[in-house]
Amino acid sequence: MKKIIFILSVILVVLLIIWLVGRTHRQTVPNGNGYQASTRDEKIKIYDIDDLEQQVAKIIPIGGFDYIRGGAETENTMRRNETAFDDADIYPRVMTGVDNPDTRTKILGIDISMPIIAAPAAAHGLAHVSAEAGSARGVAAAGTIMSVSTYASSTLAEIAGAGNGAPQWFQLYLSKDDAVNRALVKLAENLGYRAIILTVDAPIGGNRVRDVLNDFKFPLDLPNVPRSGGRGIGAIFAAAQNNLMPYDIMRVKSLTRLPVIVKGIQHPDDAEIAIAAGADAIWVSNHGGRQLDGAPAAFEVLPEIAARVNKRVPIIFDSGIRRGQHIFKAIASGADVVAIGRPVIYGLALGGWRGVESVFEYLRADLQRVMWLAGAQTVDDIKNTELRPRCKIE
Ligand SMILES: Cc1cc2nc3c(=O)[nH]c(=O)nc-3n(C[C@H](O)[C@H](O)[C@H](O)COP(=O)(O)O)c2cc1C
Repeated sequence: MKKIIFILSVILVVLLIIWLVGRTHRQTVPNGNGYQASTRDEKIKIYDIDDLEQQVAKIIPIGGFDYIRGGAETENTMRRNETAFDDADIYPRVMTGVDNPDTRTKILGIDISMPIIAAPAAAHGLAHVSAEAGSARGVAAAGTIMSVSTYASSTLAEIAGAGNGAPQWFQLYLSKDDAVNRALVKLAENLGYRAIILTVDAPIGGNRVRDVLNDFKFPLDLPNVPRSGGRGIGAIFAAAQNNLMPYDIMRVKSLTRLPVIVKGIQHPDDAEIAIAAGADAIWVSNHGGRQLDGAPAAFEVLPEIAARVNKRVPIIFDSGIRRGQHIFKAIASGADVVAIGRPVIYGLALGGWRGVESVFEYLRADLQRVMWLAGAQTVDDIKNTELRPRCKIE
């Protein structure tokens, strides 16, 4: 009897040790190399998205923060992404009987609560220990679409699990190794992701001076990319295909039955080429000003691209969206929905999944107020609104 009790105790102790080691491992993986991501878990009060940036600066390490908030070179294009919205005005209509405007809409057959979705962004684990799994839960709670980067810090399966059936899109950086591309697209498809976003504006990384100064290396693994931990963004992009052509869009189309969205379009001719190659949607973006400094603000090129696309496929727009009026102006200029990159990560850092939900809820409420004051009852009404170019009073 004593022997049995002894053996059982030994087994129990061994199991306890295995459990403890596993638990410690799970907790420290996102904080590898001493990196301290946030563990907050609360709704956040927001009066201005730009203010969130200041708060995040105080709670995550400088290398991770600069990687997230930074842009390329002088950061002029990044700054212009936000200020360009000031060059077009909303011409308010005040006797339209608008009442409690409806922000719901649809994109690629998916119903969403607001015309605002999460842009794909690498390494959410720099912001919060729950990483993209946390973001996915917050985005799902807000009733909209989560886009997941190839360079995510959670696995595609973890993110799908956290979304619990909510719509998710997978963003592909084409690898030089076609077997990797096939495997990732098939995995995303099997896990229930509903579209593939092919990003075409990053054949190499932009010149991000903050990362150079910080000698920034990812302190944690990017589990969907082999051997990524401890490497900089330049080294990661080196494994990606560095010469993209229309044929690559066709190639991705041939890998999947899902719609393929081409992200990073900044010129009407490229929109035309992408549609001819089979793109099911165009994503107008300059990558949040992180790639080519000296390029125009994304909002400046949107009307030309929308005119060329001429409603043949839907348009997603991002880069610089921080307010309801920005969303209104982008939709009035031809976008079907907008996406946000940094604001999602700031919400995640400040409040975990609840913080992400707070960011979407803030922007939805802000958009609804703008719609009410401008005279638009529905998202389709915004699409039929004409903006007024700003007059210069001499
Ligand atoms: C930290 C960070 C990482 C990003 N990583 C990716 C990525 O892996 N793939 C991609 O297509 N875009 C990536 N982007 C670009 C976003 O999808 C989006 O275009 C951009 O953030 C929009 O600008 P905003 O941050 O002003 O909203 C990233 C952006 C940020 C801020």
